[in-house]
Amino acid sequence: MISVKDLKLAYGKRVLFEEVNLNFLKGNCYGVIGANGAGKSTFLKILSGEIEPNKGTVEITPGERMAILKQNQFEFDGETVLNTVMMGHTKLWAIAKERESIYALADFTEEDGMRAGELEGEFGEMGDIQLTVMQPLY
Ligand SMILES: Nc1ncnc2c1ncn2[C@@H]1O[C@H](COP(=O)(O)OP(=O)(O)O)[C@@H](O)[C@H]1O
Ligand SMILES: [Mg+2]
Repeated sequence: MISVKDLKLAYGKRVLFEEVNLNFLKGNCYGVIGANGAGKSTFLKILSGEIEPNKGTVEITPGERMAILKQNQFEFDGETVLNTVMMGHTKLWAIAKERESIYALADFTEEDGMRAGELEGEFGEMGDIQLTVMQPLY
């Protein structure tokens, strides 16, 4: 769960939002709707920790992790949904790619086997993906 408490952001005198209190629950999909310039992207930047709010907190349940993809609707057209999700988490994606490249080797050395085992372990710990998706709708 991502828990937002009493969040406020203002640029100078312009208050984009304040007293925002809400919980994003596991398994749900959320869309952030608002006119151009309303503050959707700014809100998501606060959730991801890219910028600090003027007031309030964002907490994520211990053991859960956040993955972020930049807003670019065509960038992932050539990717599967699962790959796209993994690409949002830099470390998980690096593990997945390295694992794939080892399994693609024609000559598989003992060292490659050891590394693949390590990567399998790391992937096993991180690869369990349950999603809460948030997306600015425009
Ligand atoms: N770094 C910044 N400094 C000052 N104003 C900003 C900054 N970033 C965004 N804004 C302003 O905050 C408002 C909300 O921006 P943004 O979150 O990008 O809106 P949305 O994603 O809903 O279109 C806009 O008026 C924008 O010009
Ligand atoms: Mg935006």
